[in-house]
Amino acid sequence: MSDAAAAKVLFEITEDKVDTGLRGFPTSYVRTSAVDPDDGVSYVGYPIEDIAYIEPEAAVYLLFHKNLPNADQLGAFKADLARRATLDPRVVTMLGNLPKDGHPMEWLMAGLNYMGMLTKTGNFREDGLNMIARSSELIANIFRLREGWGAPIASKPELGLVENMVHMLGVPGGDTGKLTRLLRIYYVIHMDHGGGNLSTFTGKAIASGLADQYSSMVGAMAALYGPLHGRANQECLEFVKKVSDATGGRADGDAVEAFVRKELASGGKLFGFGHAVLRAEDPRARVQYKLGEEICGDDPLFKICALLRERGVKVLKENVKIQNPYPNVDAVSGSLTNACGLTDPEYYTVLFGFARIAGIAAQIVDERTVARGGKGVPIYRPEDVVKDQPFRRLEQ
Ligand code: MLT
Repeated sequence: MSDAAAAKVLFEITEDKVDTGLRGFPTSYVRTSAVDPDDGVSYVGYPIEDIAYIEPEAAVYLLFHKNLPNADQLGAFKADLARRATLDPRVVTMLGNLPKDGHPMEWLMAGLNYMGMLTKTGNFREDGLNMIARSSELIANIFRLREGWGAPIASKPELGLVENMVHMLGVPGGDTGKLTRLLRIYYVIHMDHGGGNLSTFTGKAIASGLADQYSSMVGAMAALYGPLHGRANQECLEFVKKVSDATGGRADGDAVEAFVRKELASGGKLFGFGHAVLRAEDPRARVQYKLGEEICGDDPLFKICALLRERGVKVLKENVKIQNPYPNVDAVSGSLTNACGLTDPEYYTVLFGFARIAGIAAQIVDERTVARGGKGVPIYRPEDVVKDQPFRRLEQ
């Protein structure tokens, strides 16, 4: 029997699978994380609700090494990241010349692209780790320069990836302690979500043509920029504000429910609810609701989120056609970020990108250097089904 004939049947290709955005098709082995429709994401076997509170660098180590570090390994890994962390100053100069009306995600793509031109080594692992280490400074400068908060603040990489980013942000009037607490958890829970999410899939597809890690990440971030993917977190806070405005800013369950019903009846949607894969409440949302109770339980927008969690789910459940009426990772992240001093939702996808860069880089390293006994996955080249193209000839 040939290998192909002996292979396990994972799915059947029938015509109804075409034009479904590859729903249900396994495209690659993934070693960093798994997404279960009911239990949500786990990182190398650890449920996200266990892993959410570990050090951000320990989570990066886990995705790269497939094991949690012991104290010595974590210390050495943090020192290695700190040693790699200096961003080429020419990237900061280039950012300073970008148009302020460019979206922060466009700035992120420009920054990563320029970083690649200036400093890539061509080694997927080295470039991945360098990019992760330098992303703290890159992200902080995107905020500072685009917002005109003043000259860049000197990097202190020994603080840690997230702590250094918050230090370099220098949010005017911000509560650094609260923001750091939030972003450490935010960074860990947004890092990875299986291999089929659009940004990760795109990054790996680009890398399969042997474009370098930076170019692959630019493409991945372009995918994340879409409102159906990462930019949904920006739209979620805008939606929560709309609910707040429509209900007079009152934390009133009945008013929120009435708004939800009206919104759905007029063809609108509940931002932050449902998911392409999940069929239950996203555990990453649960982690954030719990954190919100602790750090900003009295925040008016957080209260609206808590009511949407209760009343939104209730209303969505009345429609039997809705497969997942539950909140996802974006439902409350913007309200927490807002309550901790980063109030402009345009930047939220950049924070998502800050975290997701680590997961995508780790998956690209696996696909390029571990898969198929180290040979790497071949260039992505899926099949298509020809439609509406009858054979014809040019009239002579
Ligand atoms: C997520 O984090 O939920 C995603 O990247 C979306 C997905 O998994 O498709």
